[in-house]
Amino acid sequence: MDKKTTLKTLQSMKGHEKIVMVTAYDALFASLFDEHVDVILIGDSLNMTFGGQDDTLSISMEQMIYHAKAVCSGAKKSFVLLDMPFGTCGNKKQALKNATKAYKQTKVDAVKIEGGREKAEIVKYLTDNEIAVCGHVGLKPQSARGEGGYSVKGKSEDEKKSILEDAIALEAAGAIMIVIEGVKPDVALAVTKAVKIPTIGIGAGVDCDGQVLVWSDMLGLNDIFVPKFVKRYTDGSSIVKDAIKQYADEVKKASFPNEQFTY
Ligand code: KIV
Repeated sequence: MDKKTTLKTLQSMKGHEKIVMVTAYDALFASLFDEHVDVILIGDSLNMTFGGQDDTLSISMEQMIYHAKAVCSGAKKSFVLLDMPFGTCGNKKQALKNATKAYKQTKVDAVKIEGGREKAEIVKYLTDNEIAVCGHVGLKPQSARGEGGYSVKGKSEDEKKSILEDAIALEAAGAIMIVIEGVKPDVALAVTKAVKIPTIGIGAGVDCDGQVLVWSDMLGLNDIFVPKFVKRYTDGSSIVKDAIKQYADEVKKASFPNEQFTY
């Protein structure tokens, strides 16, 4: 088995080798992805992709911990990152209580907090308390309801400057990595050049230090809405539907189980 990917490994990859991150929510898929990726993210996107909800806001810390336990038992080598859900990092004390729970109850290597300079004090507090934190700037799904929807960020010079300041503040606070979501590529490039820690893009162009995608999107399982930045590496939904149809047809016809599948 390959060696475990550590924080040091990821930080040494900046400028040399792209970092591959993907989401996973259970042990089975974490074990399938583990060999080929550097980081597995238990993203709160699971509330939408698997929970069927309209946004990420309603998932709880306990639900995230349940999924994190499963992912950690499937991922033997990848660095494992856990999203801190909405409402769990409102202030330093609350954030430390919840992140400590995640560290104690699971084997995640770091937590991810959505936010930039407004979260810098919290990032520093967690870092000072031995918890590794990844930031998340640009489009922040946990802010979308309050902002009235999802929109690409960094289109104006002011927005670009603001995202850059967010990233710099997070690095100064001790963040180990920064996810940059839904921004114009020049913004992601500027951030990547401005900080020494790795940047991971999603809908942020090719110049970040790595990329992340939601696994069910990249495997083509989600037919309802496919954002522009998602490449479908296979047509998962047709594969699954064809297989389940064949199974259903064979059960109806009583051609399954035949002799081969019978004791
Ligand atoms: O929740 C999630 O899956 C994420 C990624 C989209 C970065 O935060």
